[in-house]
Amino acid sequence: MLSGRLRAAVAGLAIAVLAGVTPAAAQAAFVKGSPSGGDPYFPKAGNGGYDVSRYNLNLRYQPSVNRLVGKATIRARAKKSLSRFDLDFRHLDIKGLSVHGKRARYARRGQELKITPRHGLRKGSRFDVRVHYHGHPRPVIDPDGSEDGWIPTDDGAFVAGEPQGAPSWFPCNDLLTDKAAYRIRVTVPKGKAAISNGELVKRIVHGRHKTFVWDEEAPMATYLATVTTGNFSVKQPRIDGIPSVVAIDPRESEAAATLARMPAMLKLFATRFGTYPFGTTGGTVDHAPNVGYALETQTRPIYDIAPDSRTVAHELAHQWFGDSVSLRRWHQIWLNEGFATWAEWSWVEHQGGDTTRQTFNRLYAKHGPNDRAFWDPPPADPGGPRNLFVTSIYARGGMALEALRQHVGTQTFFQILRDWARQHAYGNAGTKQFIDLAEADSGQDLGHFFHVWLYRPGKPRGWASSARSLPTDHRSGEGAGRPMAALDQLR
Ligand code: TRP
Ligand code: ZN
Repeated sequence: MLSGRLRAAVAGLAIAVLAGVTPAAAQAAFVKGSPSGGDPYFPKAGNGGYDVSRYNLNLRYQPSVNRLVGKATIRARAKKSLSRFDLDFRHLDIKGLSVHGKRARYARRGQELKITPRHGLRKGSRFDVRVHYHGHPRPVIDPDGSEDGWIPTDDGAFVAGEPQGAPSWFPCNDLLTDKAAYRIRVTVPKGKAAISNGELVKRIVHGRHKTFVWDEEAPMATYLATVTTGNFSVKQPRIDGIPSVVAIDPRESEAAATLARMPAMLKLFATRFGTYPFGTTGGTVDHAPNVGYALETQTRPIYDIAPDSRTVAHELAHQWFGDSVSLRRWHQIWLNEGFATWAEWSWVEHQGGDTTRQTFNRLYAKHGPNDRAFWDPPPADPGGPRNLFVTSIYARGGMALEALRQHVGTQTFFQILRDWARQHAYGNAGTKQFIDLAEADSGQDLGHFFHVWLYRPGKPRGWASSARSLPTDHRSGEGAGRPMAALDQLR
């Protein structure tokens, strides 16, 4: 019996011959996959024409010389009949590359790895790409000047791919909307640990080396993958009933007490946002003080230094908002950072500190209309990739949600957050979907409200003034009146 692919090729040839055209012309039905994923903030990142379902990464890392050897197997499905397709991959040298087990031609240009398989890939068919590579990985410099990707430390590497660092350590389709499962196997010198996402399946000591095998089956965006390596004390406690891995650099050991509060945080967030979306949790606290930020790597955030409890709450909240429900495009970043910031404030309130309302009032009173650095750019329109992580995305983004809570009422507000987390779990969604959902759940026309909070430059004011109800009004809870009126006067 002929294999499906061979049969298709023979049939194609027969049609071509019958039609009196050459087989080469028949190949014209195959097109090149796009070298862009279509995100205007990072037009070179991501690629079109296929969908990745799984990354299988087999890595060996030598921290003393920052040398990485990798074998990546990428399983994907062709969305078009492809004569060629691209991956994103930076700097590292390629030793061998095959598609379907056959050597394939490739060319490199910047972050694009252009692959021409021996045979075209039929629309709908599955294929495996294997890339064998090695070299000295280095970080990517972001438009805002910060580093991301593979960041070497004094005892290993801090690996944080947001927004564009994933291709610094593995070939991938570096696109928010192409989530996939991961199996990551890392070999490091015996005294070191390599902490990645999901379940720790195996730890194998062989001679002077140790191999860690990690498995994350829930769909994950490329930027949320990590293999942070160094000297760590590794523990596997249960946290609120969830299997977890907690890895702490001995120099940051004070972090243990802070991470011990994760059960309370996960409980609080589960009651507000719905069930925790993943099968594992935990945290990795590195000693990488030059990095300057933590990252919500899926299931297990990474911290550059011992974090305070607000930061831990922030990164855990991202598991719902950012990791399970991911952005469609980078300019929607407030859906990650505004939500995590609001969650951080709600943790503070839960601890007996300021209420979310008090935090809002304090910030609103403190920052006048001339404080443009605080209010601009408006959260849903950052104006370019260099503003992805500026203050207004976080603080004004969080304030937009607090204003929404007061505008629609606490009950409706949590309904919106839970519906958001549930409806888009393990997927992608953007600001428009959020506004539509908030309007559906509250029964209110929130166009003016969100225009003021998310899109209009300058200090928000007058957002409650033209509140109109949609025909089917099913508001509930404390906010049905005009609780913001007093604040509105503040300008
Ligand atoms: N998303 C991270 C957080 O807020 C922050 C972050 C990731 C970041 N990458 C960055 C901040 C690059 C500045 C620059 O939890
Ligand atoms: Zn964040």
